[in-house]
Amino acid sequence: MLALLLLQLLHGGLGIPSASQRSFGVDYARNCFLKDGEPFRYISGSIHYSRVPRYYWKDRLLKMKMAGLDAVQTYVPWNFHESEPGVYNFTGDRDLVSFVQLAQEVGLLLILRAGPYICAEWDMGGLPAWLLNKETIVLRSSDADYLAAIGRWMGILLPKMKPLLYQNGGPIIMVQVENEYGSYFACDFDYLRYLQKLFRQHLGNEVVLFTTDGASKSLLRCGALQGLYSTVDFGPGNNVTAAFLVQRHSEPKGPLVNSEFYTGWLDHWGHRHSVVSSSIIAKTLSEILAHGASVNMYMFIGGTNFGYWNGANMPYLPQPTSYDYDAPLSEAGDLTEKYFAIREVIGMYKKLPVGPIPPTTPKFAYGEVALEKVGTVKDFLDDLSPSGPVKSTYPLTFVQVKQYFGYVLYRTKLPRNCSEKTLLSSHGIHDRGYVSVDGIPQGVLDRWNIISLNITGNAGAYLDMLVENMGRVNYGRYNNDFKGLVSNVTLGEDILTDWEIYPLDIDRAVDQGLSNKMSDGNISSYEEPTFYTGNFSIPSGIPDLPQDTYIEFSGWTKGQVWINGFNLGRYWPALGPQITLFVPSNILVSSSPNNITVLEFEKAPCSSGKCLIEFVDRPNINATVHRESTSEKLFTRDVFLDHI
Ligand SMILES: *[C@@H]1O[C@H](CO)[C@@H](O)[C@H](O)[C@H]1NC(C)=O
Ligand SMILES: *[C@@H]1O[C@H](CO)[C@@H](O)[C@H](O)[C@H]1NC(C)=O
Ligand SMILES: *[C@@H]1O[C@H](CO)[C@@H](O)[C@H](O)[C@H]1NC(C)=O
Ligand SMILES: *[C@@H]1O[C@H](CO)[C@@H](O)[C@H](O)[C@H]1NC(C)=O
Ligand SMILES: *[C@@H]1O[C@H](CO)[C@@H](O)[C@H](O)[C@H]1NC(C)=O
Ligand SMILES: *[C@@H]1O[C@H](CO)[C@@H](O)[C@H](O)[C@H]1NC(C)=O
Ligand SMILES: *[C@@H]1O[C@H](CO)[C@@H](O)[C@H](O)[C@H]1NC(C)=O
Ligand SMILES: *[C@@H]1O[C@H](CO)[C@@H](O)[C@H](O)[C@H]1NC(C)=O
Repeated sequence: MLALLLLQLLHGGLGIPSASQRSFGVDYARNCFLKDGEPFRYISGSIHYSRVPRYYWKDRLLKMKMAGLDAVQTYVPWNFHESEPGVYNFTGDRDLVSFVQLAQEVGLLLILRAGPYICAEWDMGGLPAWLLNKETIVLRSSDADYLAAIGRWMGILLPKMKPLLYQNGGPIIMVQVENEYGSYFACDFDYLRYLQKLFRQHLGNEVVLFTTDGASKSLLRCGALQGLYSTVDFGPGNNVTAAFLVQRHSEPKGPLVNSEFYTGWLDHWGHRHSVVSSSIIAKTLSEILAHGASVNMYMFIGGTNFGYWNGANMPYLPQPTSYDYDAPLSEAGDLTEKYFAIREVIGMYKKLPVGPIPPTTPKFAYGEVALEKVGTVKDFLDDLSPSGPVKSTYPLTFVQVKQYFGYVLYRTKLPRNCSEKTLLSSHGIHDRGYVSVDGIPQGVLDRWNIISLNITGNAGAYLDMLVENMGRVNYGRYNNDFKGLVSNVTLGEDILTDWEIYPLDIDRAVDQGLSNKMSDGNISSYEEPTFYTGNFSIPSGIPDLPQDTYIEFSGWTKGQVWINGFNLGRYWPALGPQITLFVPSNILVSSSPNNITVLEFEKAPCSSGKCLIEFVDRPNINATVHRESTSEKLFTRDVFLDHI
């Protein structure tokens, strides 16, 4: 209701010019943009539709409009839309066209960062993992197979965007080509030229195509291309004059543009939560605006890496589920002090829109919910892997078994007795392997620290390694990030052979409901990767429920959680800094109990009697990290010694 009212206010009396009058371009003589023939500069903010439930798109966009923004900027993650070659999804939370139209309804222009590569702390920087089906592919270069895949993808994406370009009556004023290409080793101008031609072919000659690079001459060297307008990105505290002089090196005339002015910063598991003060943001933003420059704030709202969508940096450091970013709107869309500080600065340079700012959505503490253990991954193997294992002498990667996300079970038999603690090793666990022998957990191997482990078991016993893909590298030359066991596994001196590799479709099995296997009597009493389920009902008699909430995992270690089949993401309170997970209200129902499924890999608090999770009304994503990830080895071993 409020939203509707606001829309009417915003649009009241504004004659929208007909398509033929609409134009957007660069005015090189006056160093600005030209919109409908008038000098123009934009103040924009980043929002990734892939990180905000569709249900909340309008709320977030309205808050951005009311902060005084002219435009929003979004990335298009290719892998979010093309899950298998030629299999596209543009519906529901992936309905990009509706998102763009909604931005326009709210009165915002849109800057489209169409990729194909986006970085964005998103799995593989948005590139689909199936590109790695060609093992030697050189991503972000003129590798023929890479170009062919882009050609097909852009042939789907860009025609959908064309009617939404500003000059065609839509909100899209500019389209970014590639992303910070100058930071990549390949420096392949043929690739950039191919993209330029492809974009022009699909979008026409009128639209402003641009590139973005770090504000240094060396980065612009490989990132800029004649015919694509060069912009720069830099954060608070930088010398604004000097940063824009770098842009001038590439673009002697035309508007000054900072395409990513950082309002906060990203997080990694095992590192302190990033915080950037409002005062320094306000100060630098004001300087940028005083230069007459256009600016996009990255992020204006970060949102959430639901499911398996987070990326990672090298040396391997995955990003957590929350992408709060310390942005002016919190992960849950809450108005923060930073929001008002930014709004005040914007108000010094332009007239702010009148009308109410949509309020912060209320959060509700539904309280504790008891969970029960329903069985291990092994117990559910038939449900999780209905087509059974792929057999191979040596281990295969995720891509080789055509599974791109989540978890794969690698199984073989011990070739000999390992009663005197035999060393199991692999240099290629991507990214974390939960090891057990005949149902007895042995410990965890990982990519960055723990590459060997002593195991015990008799000849012929099943050695199970459940391997987790923790998110593909999204930045730099390590983009070709193969998952699973990417090298051989040795036992003492011997290479282990004859693997059964089970692709696991856990999301589908969870969606169908996991029936309790505990009565089958074949359950080990040890803690292997195990499923727990429970449910809770929305209390009646309280108005406006269901509301957003956060799950807290006290006493749990590391795992993945679903509510009503929606994959909320990974939790890892034993490492931090993120302790609670955001639960948007739109996945909850009032009409029946809400089903929770937790897959815990290491240690649940259930053996000590408190088999609970708790729904709380405030987030905690900034816990003190006791041990930075370099000493995580200690931490992991502690957990295991504790329960073996
Ligand atoms: C497409 O994506 C939406 C949103 O994530 C999802 O609900 C839907 O099931 C997907 N469709 C297919 C066919 O996978
Ligand atoms: C900022 O950079 C400009 C241009 O390089 C320079 O003239 C100025 O002194 C710098 N300001 C500060 C505070 O360093
Ligand atoms: C392996 O251990 C089992 C059980 O302890 C024993 O019966 C068997 O003889 C051992 N095999 C070898 C080859 O040592
Ligand atoms: C394995 O056991 C041996 C002998 O007890 C010990 O020296 C070694 O440190 C252990 N290795 C690991 C990785 O725990
Ligand atoms: C595993 O070892 C075999 C035999 O030495 C070798 O042919 C194969 O390439 C190795 N696989 C990997 C992934 O290293
Ligand atoms: C909900 O949980 C209760 C135990 O708290 C259980 O008896 C009931 O079967 C569960 N309902 C569903 C639909 O899973
Ligand atoms: C919860 O699970 C039960 C039993 O599988 C199912 O009947 C019900 O539809 C589920 N509820 C929701 C909201 O998905
Ligand atoms: C985390 O953030 C909250 C809310 O801003 C603050 O009260 C708390 O002191 C912070 N904790 C840490 C450990 O930084």
